[in-house]
Amino acid sequence: MIIKFIMLQMAAVPARPPRRLLGRLGLITALASALGLGACATQMPAPSQADATRIAMEWPGTTVETLARGRTAYLDHCTACHAAYTPDAHPAAVWRKIVAEMAPRSRLDHRTSEDVVRYLIASARR
Ligand code: HEC
Repeated sequence: MIIKFIMLQMAAVPARPPRRLLGRLGLITALASALGLGACATQMPAPSQADATRIAMEWPGTTVETLARGRTAYLDHCTACHAAYTPDAHPAAVWRKIVAEMAPRSRLDHRTSEDVVRYLIASARR
């Protein structure tokens, strides 16, 4: 009787608890991003022609391609340590300061960091 009870208990113990825990964490992460707590590529606005035209007044020669390159670099290089903040998380002037501070951490070259700044400022809260 007792042996049968113990065997039932053993059967109820998951074979690989760490995996279950990881699975659960994965589910929580998925839920969090579904609720909009995390930012992923699909939430990162794509640059428009209007953005490029507006930003070209400050940086002549900026095109939609420049901004798209900045967006890609942002998603590729600025998500190594934390989730990507959406551009509307900060006003334009603040983004310039943040990228100046974060670019060395991402080891971005000057041109790439300029692309990232242009993308973020073009898409930022105004
Ligand atoms: C090597 C790790 C690392 C990389 C790469 C990195 N960051 Fe950060 N970031 C941090 C840490 C750590 C913080 C927390 C605040 C701090 O230390 O300044 C932070 C904070 C931030 C914040 C919040 C600042 C605030 O005041 O709310 C923003 C926005 C940000 N990073 C943007 C970026 C951008 C843009 C890039 C790419 C150019 C980037 N990060 C790359 C480590 C990193």
